[in-house]
Amino acid sequence: MTPAAETSRYTAVAITLHWVIALAIIGLIPVGWYMGDLPDGAPGQEMLYQMHKSIGITVLILTIARIGWRLANPAPPLPEGMAPLEKTASHLVHWVFYGLMILMPLSGWVYVSTAYEFQVPTVLFGLVSWPHLPFMGALQNETGHGVAEFVHSKLAWVAIAMIVLHVAGAVKHEITDEDGVLKRMIPGLFGRSAPPQAPSRGALSAFGAAALVFSLVAGAPLVASAANGSATLISTGEVAANWVVDYEASEIGFSGDHDGSEYSGTFGEWSADIAFDPDEVSAARAEVAVDTGSSRTGNKLYDDSLKSAEWFNVSGFPTASVVLTDFAETETGYTATAALTIKEQTMEAPFAFTLEIVDGRATMDGEAVFGRTPLDLGLQSDPGADWVGEEINVSVHVEASRID
Ligand code: HEM
Repeated sequence: MTPAAETSRYTAVAITLHWVIALAIIGLIPVGWYMGDLPDGAPGQEMLYQMHKSIGITVLILTIARIGWRLANPAPPLPEGMAPLEKTASHLVHWVFYGLMILMPLSGWVYVSTAYEFQVPTVLFGLVSWPHLPFMGALQNETGHGVAEFVHSKLAWVAIAMIVLHVAGAVKHEITDEDGVLKRMIPGLFGRSAPPQAPSRGALSAFGAAALVFSLVAGAPLVASAANGSATLISTGEVAANWVVDYEASEIGFSGDHDGSEYSGTFGEWSADIAFDPDEVSAARAEVAVDTGSSRTGNKLYDDSLKSAEWFNVSGFPTASVVLTDFAETETGYTATAALTIKEQTMEAPFAFTLEIVDGRATMDGEAVFGRTPLDLGLQSDPGADWVGEEINVSVHVEASRID
């Protein structure tokens, strides 16, 4: 062994970051090819995209930490006996790698941020909303999106070439030159023969910078939604309400099919003015205002999708309304016509419900089925209902007390 290689090895943090990022990139490339080749709407495709994006963004954040760490903890010197050209090539490959570790995830992020037809939010590991890059408006078209895809796709080949060179170099030094270069980067048992690492420093600034970037980006949607606030549900005053709704005990839910399984959710904020007299059913009328931003499905990806422009467009249209008219009694209960207006699109559907009134307290359960197409919901991404079924079932449970 040369004296230089004997002096030290990489720090444990550098070794961990190296292998975690390496494994992530080696996994992301075939997954990227595979998921892109799946037919649109194939089962599991959406999960693969989300996983690819989550791990890709993790690479970006870890790379920030890695670069910070590298600046504070220079790499152990290369063996003295190594040819100058080889040293230059080795350094060059390493710096191209750092560039790739930034540019690959960044180009993927630009790619999803420039989507102009099929827009899907990114939710990291199903937990953290990751916004699209800002100021991408000018690139949200076929050309901008196409260039981002080209760059993202071709960088993979640059990465593969670099990985081949990098691995070949490491193996050559381990097997032919026996100068211990590979062992400096091998964790645990295999690296035992290598001499101890140098004392490390700069953990706070390296990981602090990574944590700061992560928090700033992940925090942006939370700040934006707090700034938007929730919708003001103002009564039109057109209904002479004779019932007070017990909102704690009541619920408006929705459900449908997505990717072969059922999704369901509820609206947390809504208000209803109900004028209903069982002795004069045909004169009944109810108006419901719903805060579109209050929908919750228990799945962060669905919640984020629903808020976006092509679904509820919460920032543009914070309120949806339902007007119930044409009430009539049926053999099994009651029926009414529900006119749902969202994003200025209105659709009418029959609303069948049962009603029980005991001591002035009413319990009502009803259902209506609406369509995505007439309501312009998700038509940009999925006009053919390949992923999300056309029908949206709305179920309503209301408990209310009579006030007249
Ligand atoms: C180091 C990180 C990453 C690597 C190595 C990587 C690698 C790849 C590869 C090899 C492909 C296939 C390209 C092709 O079809 O030729 C791909 C596709 C894709 N990547 Fe990444 N990626 C990374 C990060 C990201 C990130 C951070 C995002 C988004 C936030 C992203 C989004 C996508 C998308 C949406 C596709 C599918 C393109 C299509 O629809 O065909 N990637 N990626």
